Amino acid sequence: MKSFVVAAVAGLLLSASSITAVPVETQSSEKTVPGNDFDRVVVIVLANANYDDAIKDPYFSKLAEKHNGLTLTNHKALTHPSQANYVGMISGSTSGVHLDFNSNIDDRKSIVDLLEKKNISWKAYQEGYPADGNCHTDSAIGLYRRKHNPFMSFTSISGSSNRCSKIVAGSQLDEDIKNNNVPQFVYYTPDMNNNGRDTNLTTASHWLSTFLESRIKKPAFSKNTLFVITWDEQETVVSVHNHVLTVLLGPMVKRSSLTDGVRYDHYSILKTVQKNVSFPQC
Ligand SMILES: *[C@@H]1O[C@H](CO)[C@@H](O)[C@H](O)[C@H]1NC(C)=O
Ligand SMILES: *[C@@H]1O[C@H](CO)[C@@H](O)[C@H](O)[C@H]1NC(C)=O
Ligand SMILES: *[C@@H]1O[C@H](CO)[C@@H](O)[C@H](O)[C@H]1NC(C)=O
Repeated sequence: MKSFVVAAVAGLLLSASSITAVPVETQSSEKTVPGNDFDRVVVIVLANANYDDAIKDPYFSKLAEKHNGLTLTNHKALTHPSQANYVGMISGSTSGVHLDFNSNIDDRKSIVDLLEKKNISWKAYQEGYPADGNCHTDSAIGLYRRKHNPFMSFTSISGSSNRCSKIVAGSQLDEDIKNNNVPQFVYYTPDMNNNGRDTNLTTASHWLSTFLESRIKKPAFSKNTLFVITWDEQETVVSVHNHVLTVLLGPMVKRSSLTDGVRYDHYSILKTVQKNVSFPQC
């Protein structure tokens, strides 16, 4: 599957070297390694909406225009139900996932292995996950659902207290922004209400606008940061299309129009990150 246009389009318009990112200026304790295309990526995953509905929403439909972004008009989720979509996003495969039951995958690597190999910091922010510093393997805690937290499905993460400590409550993000200590790979899962799963698309739209608009300009969060806003799966399960809205935002996005109709899927997220860090297997 193709990596996103940030690289592809930029590569078309500019030589690869001219888009080499400027290292994030930071006083934080986390060291920042400069990226090929971007220094940080923030992936935000909303739940259960058809592309055709999401694109009619006044906020979602204007996101790309508002923030130097691109609306991907032909992005497909991987499968149903939820969980395998999340696992696929961070590991390039849906195998080892049985419906939405707790998964414990030990036969392959995840994006965490790639990032750590390059000393790239990461955190999985999960709304509703307890902020007590412990590793919680429960399938549900309040409005938190493990099925939307793919990191917990890898035994190399759940079985390591150091790695598991990178799975944090959503509220930790504002602390990290305040301390200029936002990691380079941010995976953010809103809770069952904010993601639209137990509510509706309008609620998810209000949540994202409040969440994003108040933070996107903060330097610790925004500098040379690529945002990927997507949905885990299409709401209508009977249709084979699994067509979801995905919007890319960020200063490195080079666009000649507001939309990109290239066929992408959730594996493109992984591929884009891999390409950014120049892993040879890409
Ligand atoms: C992009 O690549 C560089 C290394 O080339 C890395 O430091 C940076 O963190 C990467 N960004 C992400 C989000 O992977
Ligand atoms: C990652 O950090 C460790 C410890 O500081 C260092 O030994 C190693 O060379 C670093 N790896 C890369 C790829 O920069
Ligand atoms: C979405 O949910 C909100 C909050 O519960 C409610 O006020 C609104 O009417 C709902 N919208 C639709 C279209 O169902």
